[in-house]
Amino acid sequence: MTIIGGSGGMGKVFGKLFQKYGFEITLFARNKEKLTQTAMVCGMKHSLRLEECVKKADIIMVSIPITSTPQMIKKIAPMMKRDAILFDITSLKTMVYNILQDMYSKYPINCISLHPMFGPGIKDMKNYVMIALKVGGTNNYNLLIEELFSIFQSEGLLIITTTPEEHDKTMALTLAVPHMVNILYLTLLKQSGIPLNELTKFTGTTFLLQKVFAESIIQREMEMFGEIQMENVEFYKILDLFEEVVSKYKKIIQGKDKNAFYKIFQEGLVYSREDNHFKNSYKYFYEFMKILKN
Ligand SMILES: NC(=O)c1ccc[n+]([C@@H]2O[C@H](COP(=O)([O-])OP(=O)(O)OC[C@H]3O[C@@H](n4cnc5c(N)ncnc54)[C@H](OP(=O)(O)O)[C@@H]3O)[C@@H](O)[C@H]2O)c1
Repeated sequence: MTIIGGSGGMGKVFGKLFQKYGFEITLFARNKEKLTQTAMVCGMKHSLRLEECVKKADIIMVSIPITSTPQMIKKIAPMMKRDAILFDITSLKTMVYNILQDMYSKYPINCISLHPMFGPGIKDMKNYVMIALKVGGTNNYNLLIEELFSIFQSEGLLIITTTPEEHDKTMALTLAVPHMVNILYLTLLKQSGIPLNELTKFTGTTFLLQKVFAESIIQREMEMFGEIQMENVEFYKILDLFEEVVSKYKKIIQGKDKNAFYKIFQEGLVYSREDNHFKNSYKYFYEFMKILKN
């Protein structure tokens, strides 16, 4: 198996996963020093020659930034072995799905697009979600993809299938929105000119927890977070909506319109009440707080 982007966070996670199931892993990336170091630490092979490590592999995983992935797929598909599997793990799918479709119709390979709903910090994959978009391939497609899925399922991953459109629409809400809200939270606080440590002295609960979410986001992959928001047209629509919502909210607050405020509050309550976590949310909140206060 060859992992393109093998010295990156997700490349390492998946390298270790497949290594556990007996695969011989070759890592490919551009920066030699980082690549050799990663390969040495993980006990894997490495190569700086793309064609050499692509043409010998039964499975190729592409784990590089979202905007570089389509070009990489176009480049490697013609080099691949007959019947080999090609999969990416990008956080957006519309663009990459179309390219994979094109590649499997031109070359005798098997293409699938995956999106693990976790980051490089994961320790145990049990009950985490892996989104899968089946693309197509040779006569052995279903068999080979089932074998691939069985590896993920052995780790306890929950595989859900979807379409590229549905995927990107939901990612605009489940990834881009929380990222944006947390980035803006820190941006707003920074405008005060008061150091975060000072503000923290005056905090009880909600501020502290929100701050921890925001701090965990802001120290992660800046390039990827930017791509997830900038490359998804579905998120542009959300930004328009967000502007509308904020301007309406401003009017409610400045106009001291209690009825409108209660209405918004009530609507949020009714919407979240249907959620499975709702009943225990307040309890969870204090469980998180217990960790922070200790
Ligand atoms: N991180 C997450 O939480 C997460 C979660 C789900 C999905 N993903 C997806 O996983 C993919 C990788 O993310 P990551 O967090 O692992 O990124 P990362 O840590 O930045 O690693 C990127 C890897 O790709 C290599 N690379 C970058 N540009 C390249 C290019 N043009 N050609 C060949 N290699 C290249 C890098 O090494 P060199 O620069 O040395 O080449 C590095 O090995 C992205 O598509 C992302 O959307 C990430």
